[in-house]
Amino acid sequence: MSHFEYKDGRLHVENVPLARIAEQAGTPSYVYSLAAIREAYAGYVSGFGDRTHLVCYSVKANGNLAVLRALANEGAGFDVVSGGELHRVLAAGGDPGKVVFSGVGKQPWEIRMALEAGILMFNVESPAELDTIDCVGREMNTRAPVALRVNPDVDPKTHPYISTGLKTSKFGIPLERCFEDYQRAATMKGLEIVGADCHIGSQLTTTEPFVEAVGRMTRFVDRLADSGIEIRLLDMGGGLGICYQDETPPSTDTYAAVLGDALGGRDLTLIVEPGRSIVGNAGCLVTRVLYHKGNNQKNFIVVDAAMNDLARPSLYSAFHEILAESEATQSVVADVVGPVCESGDFFAKERAVANVGPGGLLVVMSAGAYGFAMASNYNARTKPAEVLVDGDVFHIVRERETLEQLIQGETIPESLG
Ligand code: LLP
Repeated sequence: MSHFEYKDGRLHVENVPLARIAEQAGTPSYVYSLAAIREAYAGYVSGFGDRTHLVCYSVKANGNLAVLRALANEGAGFDVVSGGELHRVLAAGGDPGKVVFSGVGKQPWEIRMALEAGILMFNVESPAELDTIDCVGREMNTRAPVALRVNPDVDPKTHPYISTGLKTSKFGIPLERCFEDYQRAATMKGLEIVGADCHIGSQLTTTEPFVEAVGRMTRFVDRLADSGIEIRLLDMGGGLGICYQDETPPSTDTYAAVLGDALGGRDLTLIVEPGRSIVGNAGCLVTRVLYHKGNNQKNFIVVDAAMNDLARPSLYSAFHEILAESEATQSVVADVVGPVCESGDFFAKERAVANVGPGGLLVVMSAGAYGFAMASNYNARTKPAEVLVDGDVFHIVRERETLEQLIQGETIPESLG
């Protein structure tokens, strides 16, 4: 069931009219449906059924504290890639014992912080990082729980910027040499080998790459076991796609079945790190139309949100559906653009969109993942507000940034007068 629907001609998020939210929170604002987030998470849990598993929500998709708390309440673990993300999880009340720490450039302070918090495991991305983690572990008189991130060389057939499991990518350790690194890790005193990990990419819309990756991983885990290295956690990363336009990604049931079947009777806890598929379709970006303008070639609808608020269209030529807040709006072929001084600042190009006039609201859909999380202050624009809808009520879960906050922390040296 969609939680973004027209009721009496006005777009609602759950039972709240978006116009009311825009009135109170201002625009642009990100608006999330709590029910949609919970439903997406529940899809994974029911998909895995009786199989021992842990869903570690990937914080990078949307790290708002309220979103994290909601997922923690459902029992989720978290996938973090920085000390900052770990800080968010802890501040939101997430269980550190369910946190996996990925990312190619972990620094000693981050490793220390994670060990102090008592995370579940580090997904180690290189032999050099293994040495650093071992060193911090020994310094702290502990054994850091690790998995090595295997690069299984599987083509996820997605956007090149978000393909991560190919031989040419910077992520993980090539499958061919990973065995050797596991043997070395087994001798290190600051480490404990607990798992194996991979992640092949994001916005995957077919099952084949997952099938291939999990097959390679289970064979690899068997080979490790034969050599005396028993692992208990298999982390298959995130990446399940969502429908932005007309994609038909596998359901969580299918996805869970594919992974579960490949594991067979092995005594492994399956970990997944979904981000987009939990929050992507649970959020939208509501924006107000500022101006219409045209030249002999084109129509432009200028809105108050821009590429600094939602970078995906500019960065990946990503498609996001754009709806009018008011259903009965005629359409016009136009570019929907923001105020930022770049031609790349657009949400739609030459698209039939609702012809909403100045002062009216447009809604950029499927913006819950990698929306606010990738927002910047480019053009000295303050970051948008974030709103969480829960049934009949809504909460502003992040205030719009103020102009004062925008310059906070900057100083002018006295010598400049
Ligand atoms: N685990 C790891 C190690 C990852 O690198 C990622 C995403 C995930 C999990 C979560 O993947 P998901 O389930 O969300 O596909 N900014 C891009 C997406 C970048 C994804 C980076 N890694 C976008 O807006 O499409």
